[in-house]
Amino acid sequence: GKVAVLYGGTSAERDVSLKSGRAVANGLREQGIDILELDIGNQGVAQILAATFDRAFIALHGEGGEDGKVQALLQLLGIPFTGSLHTASAIAMDKLKTKQIWLSASLPTPDYRVLQSSDDFAACLQALGGSVFVKPVHEGSSIGMTCANNKEELKAAFEAAEKFDSEVFAESTVVGREFTVAILGETVLPPIELLPSNRFYDYDAKYISNETRYLCPCNLTPDKNKELCELALKSFKMIGCSGWGRVDALQDEAGNFHLLEVNTVPGMTDHSLVPMAARAVGLNFSELVAEILYISTL
Ligand code: DAL
Ligand code: MG
Repeated sequence: GKVAVLYGGTSAERDVSLKSGRAVANGLREQGIDILELDIGNQGVAQILAATFDRAFIALHGEGGEDGKVQALLQLLGIPFTGSLHTASAIAMDKLKTKQIWLSASLPTPDYRVLQSSDDFAACLQALGGSVFVKPVHEGSSIGMTCANNKEELKAAFEAAEKFDSEVFAESTVVGREFTVAILGETVLPPIELLPSNRFYDYDAKYISNETRYLCPCNLTPDKNKELCELALKSFKMIGCSGWGRVDALQDEAGNFHLLEVNTVPGMTDHSLVPMAARAVGLNFSELVAEILYISTL
């Protein structure tokens, strides 16, 4: 039957999704799969209802497409789709709910404070160790995210994040190394270490510049590598995620890992990380997308 690749959407990550979606569609076509490309605009529900397809590959990032809404619609329609079901998608899109669930199970994640304009920014900064990342609760691709090391920066960072989301939080900075772990069904792919050249692994580093270096396989010790893989899978399952996804984590200078978030529709652009991890186990892009489709909709 026909597979609809849903991409675009109306979130701040629309441009990323256009790239992901077109790459996914081409990859599936290479595998001989019959594809319908659907660029989801603000009439997304009507578009989905009007189209005829048997399964969906969701390549939508951010609000509306990755946050459980499209997933719920497809579940109501009885159409199988890739990735997590609607509840897990909604939780994973919410970085605070995600952290609260992890903390309830004693999984490590950096300390945080919800920020409001009336807050005492100096006290908040001090409570979090003097250096923080400020993030919109529901964004992706580092959109609206900045670091802050004094109360003026924290105020500016809060105002920048607030443009994207009514909920904003500050997360204490972990000094050390950054990793990401792709999950494909029950399989954990080899972790990737990210070595961004400037500030942090921001939007520019993710999609535009070629300055970031990546190590995959990375050079963690076998014990630490195993620990990270197990933590990633456990944290993914604890949110209720399934199918595929990517868990982002930091390692502090003492060697301990700290979970940042789960992405239930990770980027699939030519700069993206899940395809890189798949290549490390001999799976090319086209084989990877066919596998994701197969896992979720068999
Ligand atoms: N939110 C972007 C697409 C990612 O996690 O890869
Ligand atoms: Mg993300």
